[in-house]
Amino acid sequence: MVSEQAVDRRTFLKLSAMRAGAVALSGGGVVAAVVGPRPLGVSAALQGDKVELAFPEYPDVVIGNLADIRPGEPMFFDYPQVGQRNMLVKLEKPAEEGIGPDGDIVAFSAFCAHMGAPMDEVYNHEHGILGPCPLHFSTFDLSKSGMHVMGKAVQHLPQVVLRVDGQGAISATGMYGLIYGYPANLLKLDGGN
Ligand code: FES
Repeated sequence: MVSEQAVDRRTFLKLSAMRAGAVALSGGGVVAAVVGPRPLGVSAALQGDKVELAFPEYPDVVIGNLADIRPGEPMFFDYPQVGQRNMLVKLEKPAEEGIGPDGDIVAFSAFCAHMGAPMDEVYNHEHGILGPCPLHFSTFDLSKSGMHVMGKAVQHLPQVVLRVDGQGAISATGMYGLIYGYPANLLKLDGGN
């Protein structure tokens, strides 16, 4: 499910430039996906002289509690849809987008950004990386937003946006980047929507 918002062309281009994204406007229909270093899955379509932006509305889902996390022991959960597997991990070093008292708890897709290989077994706690991938050796730095550091992938590992409340409950609230195999993270591939 998405929410939509109409903006004029000038606002759209400013917004796109702020994201350092690549935008190509054409005569109609879906014209661009706003992309950049931290894409949120925003898409755009030209309607007359207006550009319609569509923002994905991610669910808030409790996925664990601070009290349950052990350093070096990833916890797995599906988000935003069943089958979209992710891992939650306490890195024991500060991380971009990290939560918790030490800012070191992060979550990422467990599917390699290259061709979707499962990466459940290749977490390296000493270095805070995920990889090398069992298929083509891609490796991602979990302290740096899943930055691709080696192998055939050409993009970051998708990162789950996390929030922690006063009782230590950890919620998933969104996703940076596109999960492998999905044209949109919230799109149901069984034909529903
Ligand atoms: S599927 Fe992981 S590097 Fe190719």
